Amino acid sequence: MPANLLEKIDKLKNQRNAVILAHNYQPGEIQDIADFTGDSLGLSIQAAKTEAETIVFCGVRFMAETAAILSPEKTVLLPDENAGCPLADMIDAQQLRKLKEQHPGSPVVCYVNSSAEVKAESDYCCTSGNAVELVSSLPEDKSIVFVPDQHLGRFVIDRTGRNLVLWPGYCTVHVAITEPDIENAKATHPKAVVMAHPECTEPVKALADQILSTGQMLRYAKKDMEKQFIIATETGMLHALKKQNPDAEFIAASNRAICPNMKRITLEKVLWSLEDMRYKVTVPEQIRTKAKKSIDRMVEILPED
Ligand code: 13P
Ligand code: SF4
Repeated sequence: MPANLLEKIDKLKNQRNAVILAHNYQPGEIQDIADFTGDSLGLSIQAAKTEAETIVFCGVRFMAETAAILSPEKTVLLPDENAGCPLADMIDAQQLRKLKEQHPGSPVVCYVNSSAEVKAESDYCCTSGNAVELVSSLPEDKSIVFVPDQHLGRFVIDRTGRNLVLWPGYCTVHVAITEPDIENAKATHPKAVVMAHPECTEPVKALADQILSTGQMLRYAKKDMEKQFIIATETGMLHALKKQNPDAEFIAASNRAICPNMKRITLEKVLWSLEDMRYKVTVPEQIRTKAKKSIDRMVEILPED
């Protein structure tokens, strides 16, 4: 670990009154310098309550946008301006308006992996950690428009029995994890508990013992008596799991499950971000106030685990 670089980051962080938030998929060295690590829900809650003036968001754009929507008085920095999310880009506001026209009267729930404009067009926002609880809280007599992740949507249908109108979006990283990946990992580790993210495909989830957000995976591994786990999600998760559970063994279901956007963030970019106060993420006020209504509900509804 380059000590000089870390010292410089630390010094500037104090000067700027900044806090570093990092998603569980970030490279290990970024997770290690962060003030808070977590899943999308946990990081949104931290972004809303921090007293720091500046938030350096080590994640992807929609996460930094969510922080800017919740805390407009703070400066939110994304160390790499091209760190996006292909899933979030699979629906835009115009496409969502058209879908709403086709389903008048149906409440609209968007996954947090979406643009600020899409959040502004939605009634509620959710993360993978509270999608089931959020959908369950809505009136039972109506169908619900759910965008953009079809796989999270099917998981919610499965758990709630509710009628969801799905959008055909998907995470390119999670759909690359296959059934044979899980079967092979199980063959070599027959006693391991399989944890899969809800963004995985249905056949992969059918082979899992637990379907959990990244934050829920961390909580589950801590309390479970088993000491071997097969992890079907982005591989950055293994760093977080191993760090918090040094006595347990974690096996990546697929070493191909690497999100190139999450991995754009480097220590150098974090330093440059603090030096030059870049790249500032802001959301136009008209969109922000509308999007905030859907996000406020998201940070209120906590998962049951
Ligand atoms: P969570 O950490 O909220 O489970 O999200 C996963 C993800 O894909 C974020 O991009
Ligand atoms: Fe988007 Fe998938 Fe990467 Fe998460 S892992 S940021 S959903 S592409």
